[in-house]
Amino acid sequence: MDSQQKTAVVTGSSSGIGRAISQDLLSHGYKVIGLARDHKKFDPENKHYFPYEIDLTDFDRTISLLKRILADHEEVNVLVSNAGFGKFQSLENFSVTQIQSFLDLNLLSHILVCQILVRYFKKQMGGDIIIMGSEAGVLGKKKSTLYSAAKFGLRGFSQALRDEVGSSDIRVCLINPGMVRSPFFGDLNFYPGENFENAIETSDVAAVVTDILAMRRGTIIDEVNLSPAKKVIVFNK
Ligand SMILES: NC(=O)c1ccc[n+]([C@@H]2O[C@H](COP(=O)([O-])OP(=O)(O)OC[C@H]3O[C@@H](n4cnc5c(N)ncnc54)[C@H](OP(=O)(O)O)[C@@H]3O)[C@@H](O)[C@H]2O)c1
Repeated sequence: MDSQQKTAVVTGSSSGIGRAISQDLLSHGYKVIGLARDHKKFDPENKHYFPYEIDLTDFDRTISLLKRILADHEEVNVLVSNAGFGKFQSLENFSVTQIQSFLDLNLLSHILVCQILVRYFKKQMGGDIIIMGSEAGVLGKKKSTLYSAAKFGLRGFSQALRDEVGSSDIRVCLINPGMVRSPFFGDLNFYPGENFENAIETSDVAAVVTDILAMRRGTIIDEVNLSPAKKVIVFNK
């Protein structure tokens, strides 16, 4: 199908990687349905961009909103399940509430959104699901216990889902970036070094998404790992 007629749901479309993916898909002729809490951060002024305000950790509202979106828009072909945040500290310093809210967004909301889209894609006879993992979903490191728990979880989920829905022409791909220069680091006490080679750019991740979607339907790109050429982490004083 011509990408002119394709529609993608992108979670976390208001900032960073999701924003770059949305911009790139729009420039390739996609309609983009953007999900986030605050769309004031990103207004592409494009009549093919449809922002919906939602806190993805409000599961009941997320389910009813997605059902409405899928009823209102003619045909949705792609899900980019991307929304997330980071919190890095020793395990013993997390409260139960922090652990719950972290996993609610970074793991459970992805599973829920994918479940709704899988049901829909099965009826539509196909679709593409791209999930934003991380290098922390491939290798666990100190202070990343929760982040790795969520991202390893998404990796296992992606593998199993791919096996489950591949025969329904639903392709599932996981992208595992290392440090990407984005507002992700705004609330953290570290960030990637300033040199061009110290971080992946959000546009690089977006280009990977476009390539994955352009692949001949008979082939699935199951997982993509991305790394900065020279990893440098700067810690705030
Ligand atoms: N940056 C990196 O180095 C890096 C590396 C590997 C993987 N990742 C992954 O890439 C994804 C995107 O990160 P990013 O770097 O683009 O960070 P970002 O710039 O902070 O963007 C995060 C996005 O998630 C949305 N979001 C956060 N909480 C939400 C909630 N409760 N409900 C709905 N939307 C919510 C934000 O929108 P609102 O605030 O408007 O709701 C925003 O659009 C995350 O899954 C992250 O784990 C990032």
